[in-house]
Amino acid sequence: MAEQHAELHFEGKVYKIPVVEGTENEKALDIGKLRAQSGLITLDYGYKNTGATTSAITFLDGEKGILRYRGYSIEELAEHSSFLETAYLIIYGELPTKDEYSQFVGDITKHTMVHEEVKSILDGFPSKAHPMGVLSSLIGALTAFYPNSLDPNRSGEEVNTSIIRILAKLPTLAAWTYKNEKGQPVNYPDNSLDYCSNFLKMMYAVPTDKYEPDALLSDALNKLLILHADHEQNCSTSTVRIVGSSHASLYSSVSAGVSALWGPLHGGANQAVIEMLEAIKEDGGNLAKWIAKAKDKNDPFRMMGFGHRVYKNFDPRAKIIKKAADNVLEKLGVHDPVLDIAKQLEEVALKDEYFVSRSLYPNVDFYSGIIYRALGIPTQMFTVMFAMGRLPGWIAQWKEMRENNEPIGRPRQVYTGRTQRSFVKMSDR
Ligand code: SDX
Repeated sequence: MAEQHAELHFEGKVYKIPVVEGTENEKALDIGKLRAQSGLITLDYGYKNTGATTSAITFLDGEKGILRYRGYSIEELAEHSSFLETAYLIIYGELPTKDEYSQFVGDITKHTMVHEEVKSILDGFPSKAHPMGVLSSLIGALTAFYPNSLDPNRSGEEVNTSIIRILAKLPTLAAWTYKNEKGQPVNYPDNSLDYCSNFLKMMYAVPTDKYEPDALLSDALNKLLILHADHEQNCSTSTVRIVGSSHASLYSSVSAGVSALWGPLHGGANQAVIEMLEAIKEDGGNLAKWIAKAKDKNDPFRMMGFGHRVYKNFDPRAKIIKKAADNVLEKLGVHDPVLDIAKQLEEVALKDEYFVSRSLYPNVDFYSGIIYRALGIPTQMFTVMFAMGRLPGWIAQWKEMRENNEPIGRPRQVYTGRTQRSFVKMSDR
């Protein structure tokens, strides 16, 4: 098919801009030569309309509420897959055969322990430290224990060992972060358990009591991690890519991704949602008041868990999580009044012109906290759970960027500061 192009008419000249088309018929202007030809750059705060790359990992359609990993819908993966199977798919591009899967799980199982000296790093954190700050530091510290991981240009096999190591160790680091906050002794991994059960045991087992894994909780966590596993060029993934584009190591790039995810406008929203729902409950459930606050431009309060940069219709993950929240609470025989408030808030907001006209629907973070609470996970650990889920996506995107030999990320700007002026001695100012 002949190459499509657009024309830019500027100062009496016409510039042909090639159009790139993806496999899902998305079209983009390739402005790679725009500045050299016309002297023009583009300006797009928050990259709302700017594609940073091409990628074969995740497709989402914000208008139709579609999300697929390597072509498979999240509805099917959440229903039929395991988190590690989905992680394999996202990282290596295909669903694993039985042998590939047992090799992958076997490799991960071999690496679940972390170096004993990590404990002394952990001990250096006050117990009140936020788990996301601790986790980001511990992931960065992995570079100290695995110096071969520093060079991303090492052999594919060594890079893959770094990938296996961080997939295996993140649950251990996350659970140890929690134990540090609780002031409890850490638990070592139990490799007889599956990924999610092992994590929950490291989180909740205490020396004084026998710990019994609960399949219901592990299944719920498994589904949640699948739903968080990747989401194309979101804020934290773009951070991982741009840090990795300088040829920084995978662990440094993921550590930066954890920090970006922490923000309440991004992954930190799952913690902020529960804090918001608790505040509304404390305030007598006065939904109208809080919806008015969210609409008031003079009030910094935002309806956490609502709105999305890309989904201008429902977030498909929110629909699955909402159903799973009902299911988990029912099976656990738990009634969480905060879930009732969340459902009422969704119902009222989606009838309000302010939310409807801005396409503000519940996003992945709106209901996920309800399930995390039901799993006994403390609010401050919610975003750590998001990071655990998102890890395969960060790895896959970093790997794709490195394998495609993408250049170092270095956006341009439009300067709006003072034009040239001469220095004035302090005595003359
Ligand atoms: C995640 O990108 C991803 O894929 C992220 C994520 C992933 O999987 O990686 O999906 C995970 O981060 C989900 C989002 C979690 N964040 C929140 O729930 C925080 C609350 N939501 C917002 O702050 C906001 O909706 C964002 C940050 C999610 C999106 O912001 P945008 O795209 O920059 O939109 P915007 O801020 O320009 O808002 C457009 C309008 C504005 O009003 P007007 O200026 O047009 O009058 O909508 C309003 C905003 O004030 N608005 C809200 C609102 N979100 C947007 N008003 C009240 N409450 C909100 N939550």
